[in-house]
Amino acid sequence: MPAVTKVCCIGAGYVGGPTCAVIALKCPHIKVTIVDLNQSRIDAWNSADYKLPIYEPGLEDVVRRARGRNLFFSTDIDGSIQEADLIFVSVNTPTKKSGVGAGFAADLNYVESATRRIAKVATSSKIVVEKSTVPCRTAESMRIILEANSSPNCRFDILSNPEFLAEGTAINDLFKPDRVLIGSLQTPEGIAASNALVEIYANWVPKERILSVGLWSSELSKLAANAMLAQRISSVNALSAICEATGANIDEVAHAVGYDSRIGPNFLRASVGFGGSCFQKDILNLVYLSESLHLPEVAEYWKQVVIMNEYQKRRFSKTVVDMLFNTITGKRIAVLGFAFKADTGDTRESPAITLVRDFLLEKAHVSIYDPQVEHAQIWSDLSEALPLVPLPNLQKQVHITSSALDCCKDAEAVVIATEWREFREIDWEAVYRGMNKPAFVFDGRLLVDAQKLRSIGFKVTVIGRGEQL
Ligand code: UDX
Ligand code: ADP
Repeated sequence: MPAVTKVCCIGAGYVGGPTCAVIALKCPHIKVTIVDLNQSRIDAWNSADYKLPIYEPGLEDVVRRARGRNLFFSTDIDGSIQEADLIFVSVNTPTKKSGVGAGFAADLNYVESATRRIAKVATSSKIVVEKSTVPCRTAESMRIILEANSSPNCRFDILSNPEFLAEGTAINDLFKPDRVLIGSLQTPEGIAASNALVEIYANWVPKERILSVGLWSSELSKLAANAMLAQRISSVNALSAICEATGANIDEVAHAVGYDSRIGPNFLRASVGFGGSCFQKDILNLVYLSESLHLPEVAEYWKQVVIMNEYQKRRFSKTVVDMLFNTITGKRIAVLGFAFKADTGDTRESPAITLVRDFLLEKAHVSIYDPQVEHAQIWSDLSEALPLVPLPNLQKQVHITSSALDCCKDAEAVVIATEWREFREIDWEAVYRGMNKPAFVFDGRLLVDAQKLRSIGFKVTVIGRGEQL
């Protein structure tokens, strides 16, 4: 199989954008075109002042170095498909909202329509790489669609190449991946296609970190990795509830547990709950897959990770109400952070959405500050979380501010929902002066120096810490 010289990436989102920008940077001999249906997204990728559609540390530098050289962003999907040797499919795969498997199964509508588009317009053979997180056997469906629609002189080889980057560290994760996983049919043609993709990554990734496996193993590995990472967080969060009830300290417990070299120290940070586009979606996929395979015990096992996460969020908002003398009606709650984690502007499945929804249902006034999330995104997330509340009513109850200090002004309680570094460095004395008394801080991210805040006068509650003074 000849070496790949032209790559097309369908989907210019959180996965396709950074991944293919890095491929372009590291492979100057390959022309990479990232295409999307969304014109304004493509315009943002092409903007002269590099106001890119996603916030990701280091991404702008990569785009500055490669754009216009061998990296292009376009809405000409058909043209880009036609000229490419290899096509990444990086479109969104949200959880289905209706129909069979609603709430669990992935909505594969976008993958299918991108695949059908490839089948319709391709005039030469292609390697098609499934990059979106999709349940096992999607690659097989893509293969059937492509083969049924292709012309006699077009051959399609399907690969699975799941993405393991985490938002906020995506560029570093792409520069130095723990591993690159490539799944293919174990036929001579499948292995040849897999080798062609290996050669792309080998431009900067050591070969021993590029793993070639079967198609289904590759797809399942992605779900498995995310499920096991999320499981660690739910495990530590379950322990945080025991800590709060007994006076133990979850930091100390996690530290002691993580010292065991078999367990390791990462991903043991108790929090108000995990969010993000992958964890919940992938576990629900695993649950759905297990049920479809008639493995109800396996399904129940993984479902519990999501149930624990919901419990953790609910438990935290209940603590806020309990501590504020069992009612927050009419009180002002300042929520610091709306993104699902620090260093991203992404709010998908952010625990902050659930907290704010709970506070609004308790008839509190809520002020929100996040350094990266667009205000329009916050309104859209809250409207979706509270579909029965018209936007003008929401806007009476919610106030979005442009600084942490403004957010906390006249509040009874500050709730830390995202671990942005700047929240550690706030002038807490000034925050205290501006708040109603008694002034409460609820730290859902183990971020602040509780002792220091108590010495200022705050009543501080930290997730996973017994003492609630
Ligand atoms: C995750 C996987 O890490 C990545 O490999 C996969 O490709 C996509 O899903 P991402 O969702 O971007 O990445 O972020 P991640 O850093 O994994 O965090 C997910 C959530 O877990 C965040 O809400 C984060 O705040 C939370 N978290 C993480 C904890 O609560 N405690 C921890 O110890 C780690
Ligand atoms: P992810 O986090 O998986 O990257 P995003 O929602 O950030 O998800 O990005 C997916 C992108 O894929 C969106 O910008 C969407 O417009 C684009 N997209 C979806 N379907 C198609 C399609 N058939 N052709 C081209 N682009 C598509």
